[in-house]
Amino acid sequence: MKLGVIGVGNMGAAILRGYIAGGASPSDIWIYQRSADKKAAFAAETGVNPCDSIEELADACDAIMVAVKPAQVREVMAPIKEKLAGKLLISIAAGLTVEQLAEAGGDKVVRVMPNTPSQIGEGMSALCRSENVPDAEFAEVLKLFQSVGKAAEVPESLFDAVTGLSGSGPAYVYLFIEALADGGVLAGMPRSMALEFAAQTVLGAAKMVMETGEHPGALKDKVCSPGGTTIEAVRNLEAGGFRSTVMEAVIASAEKSEEMKNS
Ligand SMILES: NC(=O)c1ccc[n+]([C@@H]2O[C@H](COP(=O)([O-])OP(=O)(O)OC[C@H]3O[C@@H](n4cnc5c(N)ncnc54)[C@H](OP(=O)(O)O)[C@@H]3O)[C@@H](O)[C@H]2O)c1
Repeated sequence: MKLGVIGVGNMGAAILRGYIAGGASPSDIWIYQRSADKKAAFAAETGVNPCDSIEELADACDAIMVAVKPAQVREVMAPIKEKLAGKLLISIAAGLTVEQLAEAGGDKVVRVMPNTPSQIGEGMSALCRSENVPDAEFAEVLKLFQSVGKAAEVPESLFDAVTGLSGSGPAYVYLFIEALADGGVLAGMPRSMALEFAAQTVLGAAKMVMETGEHPGALKDKVCSPGGTTIEAVRNLEAGGFRSTVMEAVIASAEKSEEMKNS
């Protein structure tokens, strides 16, 4: 796939770095970026081809990823509307639907909802596509996002739910890590030690869920010995409505995502 990326900010740059680290050839990648310095620095770092215009990028590529802010997507697509016929348009812009992207000129459209841990190769991305995207081309895009974490095809009807869970989710987990560390500090641990212990505990527990395939409830039961310290803490979390609060957070974010799409 000859890939062009418009916007090499946080997400665009992270995805391209992962893709290249995973074996993609920089000579098959073109970039266009508003600030010339940033464009030159990224091209020098990675060996990708910098373009002087969005039109030049569109002519060189058969798949174009827009990685600018959602409000700028229509603006960057406008000059290449005619050139998009027969090409893949990949958008990571939050909230812009396949239908809206097609209205803006996209022909074969893949909409993606990645999340920020993509920046360190541990992202979770949801992808959906317009009906005319062939399986082989979609598989290439899936591979692109698998280079920065996990990626799966998800019906577009679930994208608000995905936004509430994996899109916004890292923020909930950061709050949890901060709170765990605060608890450690309250119990006497130095701050830096508490933060390291908290983050590693979350990482280890997440890996236990992924690698053992066991239900998190069963794993929780294994930590709780009868009459022990952990079940005492679990009682406190339940008294504070922990699980219900987290579920409400996912729903609140999903509802906001739905609301923003319609505004
Ligand atoms: N960050 C996240 O958590 C996250 C998660 C999921 C999806 N997304 C989506 O990812 C997209 C990018 O987000 P981001 O966090 O990577 O933003 P970002 O760091 O601000 O990157 C956007 C990039 O686009 C460039 N740009 C803006 N207007 C342009 C134009 N007219 N032509 C060429 N380049 C232009 C900017 O360049 P300058 O710096 O020169 O202005 C910047 O490098 C957004 O649509 C967002 O919804 C982000």
